[in-house]
Amino acid sequence: MREDANCQWRVAVRPVGKPKPSDFAYTEEAIPEPGDGEILLKTLYLGLAPVMRMYMQGTGAAGEKALGIGDVIHGRGVGEVVTSNHPAFAPGDIVQGQLGWQTYKVSAVTPQEKIFKVADRGVSYALSAGVLAMTGLSAYGGFLDCGQPKAGDLVVVSGAAGGVGSIVVQIAKIMGCHVIGIAGGPEKCAFLRSLGVDETIDYKAEDVPARIAALCPDGLDIYFDNVGGETLAACLENLAMGARVVLCGSISEYTRDAPFGLTNYTRLRAVNGMMKGFFVYNYLDRLDEAVDALAGWIRSGRMQPVQDVIDGFEAMPEALMRLYDGRNVGVQCCRVREHPHDLALEKGEVA
Ligand SMILES: NC(=O)c1ccc[n+]([C@@H]2O[C@H](COP(=O)([O-])OP(=O)(O)OC[C@H]3O[C@@H](n4cnc5c(N)ncnc54)[C@H](OP(=O)(O)O)[C@@H]3O)[C@@H](O)[C@H]2O)c1
Repeated sequence: MREDANCQWRVAVRPVGKPKPSDFAYTEEAIPEPGDGEILLKTLYLGLAPVMRMYMQGTGAAGEKALGIGDVIHGRGVGEVVTSNHPAFAPGDIVQGQLGWQTYKVSAVTPQEKIFKVADRGVSYALSAGVLAMTGLSAYGGFLDCGQPKAGDLVVVSGAAGGVGSIVVQIAKIMGCHVIGIAGGPEKCAFLRSLGVDETIDYKAEDVPARIAALCPDGLDIYFDNVGGETLAACLENLAMGARVVLCGSISEYTRDAPFGLTNYTRLRAVNGMMKGFFVYNYLDRLDEAVDALAGWIRSGRMQPVQDVIDGFEAMPEALMRLYDGRNVGVQCCRVREHPHDLALEKGEVA
């Protein structure tokens, strides 16, 4: 990666099926100059999310501007202010926000970019690209608000070893729930047990409907859905009285030609059940609360911040492909540049 240029990844073609290397185009241009009221940001870390494939398809998903062919791909991450012509920012400030897949960005700090200063909470700044950013807020807001967990609840989480899922299972354990994690492969299931998950289902090797029925003989209280499709349908067949189904994502459906077409949602009636969706940006007013809570659990050792870090801006397409191949554990991130604060933390030099 050149330090004297703004390196960027752009949409080459609309992805069909899983994203592949030829969907991405690499370009370089001059580092932009900030104008009045603007800041120049240097990208440190970028977070990856399944929705980025939808951005590349030009659907304008998740409240972001629809991308055309040749546009820089949307992506949130952590940046350092290099130059500031904005009264609220100074060189050296660390922010999280919409940086795009690029190594520098000039920002007018618009509401659309959702740029927030990152305080030093005694944890790595890199976490503000994932666990302490929108992924963590999705887990915190979605699970606590829509799931309404109580101690003793039987909670099933799909995509449990992924970004949102690995945080939800840990919050559920902190809340005193009994947790079943669904993930692909024995390594991911073993990893989930190392996080304290009580039971696991390897959906690639096991009969998911049969296993859910066996593990939830009296029904499940909360299903946190990251994958949709057949897994959602199987959970709806096993609801306890008053069950809550939280619709976070449906990655198993994103690359299909047609949606799954759920038919058994009527199972909610007999148990006075509730199915509730959420969109993370509708929880922005709780970002500080979520980050404070998550960072507190991390500092006290009650939560493991699971970020799957790939090195180098060149690896961004590979990082997105990992999500669709199920190769990531925890939040997939890319380390574009490491901040000295994080290096010092790694070496145990700061508290
Ligand atoms: N509602 C919101 O505001 C909101 C916010 C953030 C994210 N989301 C959604 O929440 C979900 C999780 O997001 P994330 O960022 O944490 O991503 P993630 O879970 O880390 O996504 C990647 C994981 O998805 C699993 N996966 C991939 N293809 C699959 C398939 N066909 N069937 C089942 N699982 C599959 C893989 O795990 P396995 O190896 O286990 O298959 C992979 O590791 C996504 O659906 C995302 O779109 C929603």
